[in-house]
Amino acid sequence: MRKGPAKILIADDDAMVRTTVSKILEMFGHCVDTASGGKGVIELVDDSYDVIILDINMPDMDGFETMCGLNELKYDIPVLFLTGAGSMDYVVKAINLGAYDFLSKPIEDLDIFNVKIRRAIEKRMYVLQERQYKAALEDDIQIKAIQLEEQNKLLLTYSNSLEKATVQLMTSLQNAMEEKDYYTAGHTMRVTEYALMLGVAMGLTENEILVLRRAAQFHDIGKLVIDLSCIQKPGKLTEDEWVLIRKHPTVGANIIQPLGFMEREQFIIRHHHERIDGKGYPDGLTGDQLDDLTKILTVVDSYDAMTSKRNYRKNMNLQEAVQELHRNSGTQFEPNIVEYFSRSIMDFTPTKGVFTQEHLENIYLNSQ
Ligand SMILES: [Fe+2]
Repeated sequence: MRKGPAKILIADDDAMVRTTVSKILEMFGHCVDTASGGKGVIELVDDSYDVIILDINMPDMDGFETMCGLNELKYDIPVLFLTGAGSMDYVVKAINLGAYDFLSKPIEDLDIFNVKIRRAIEKRMYVLQERQYKAALEDDIQIKAIQLEEQNKLLLTYSNSLEKATVQLMTSLQNAMEEKDYYTAGHTMRVTEYALMLGVAMGLTENEILVLRRAAQFHDIGKLVIDLSCIQKPGKLTEDEWVLIRKHPTVGANIIQPLGFMEREQFIIRHHHERIDGKGYPDGLTGDQLDDLTKILTVVDSYDAMTSKRNYRKNMNLQEAVQELHRNSGTQFEPNIVEYFSRSIMDFTPTKGVFTQEHLENIYLNSQ
């Protein structure tokens, strides 16, 4: 807000008028600058003026043209027109252009003149106050926006670390439970590696790879909480045992569900035993209802089951398993994923040592 005397700019082509009006204004304690025409006003004016007084008839630029020029400058300084015994047309035109008030020329009543000038100065004060308030408000909004952004970042960091901690906790829990099941431990590790290999070969995004990794890592978590001692028994499974085994995708998905942040993983885990012909379990979904990540997991999961030794059957070698995948391509598996997989598995080298019998036996021995 401006302090001290008000700053007033007068334009009139009549030097006598300029001097008289200046003197009166100075007498009332204001600072005055003068111009002999509209051009002078436009050149001289800046945001430091509080009031402008314009004559209407001036040779270079009349009062109205000057007013238009001032409007373009957007200083928002109240303008008072000096009028003689003017016509109504002039008044209407001046008001339409945004004139604040009129001063009669010659000045006969000093009190009225003084009141009008004071009101114009007050108007200017309001304009400046409002401007200041708006600027403060904008600053405030900007500060709040920055604070909010920082809080959001912090929140995101917290939520990410919470997610990480939850996954770590689940991994530890899973590892602890897998100690009882030598086969599932190795299977989970290999399926995760195969899934990542295939995901990268298929050009999945970083986020899809993350989802796939988590889904693969926990895809059989349901097996660990239902009594599957039958998995380790020699010989074929009975119908009742199969019924129990078929529950593991649903149980696994139900374990993940309360976490709230692994929705896609939950879907993949629930459906990793579906077939694209709709003959899988638990929901009999068809190919168009399954996403690529789930289809990837069904392929790598089956491949590992085929190539792993089980108590009741001999394992297949790489070529035999790939042939089996092709035989079931289009019914059980998505053909293009089988294609990608068979091409990639030929050159695939697992992360150092994780697939070796020695590594798995070490895990098993360490858990004893
Ligand atoms: Fe499974």
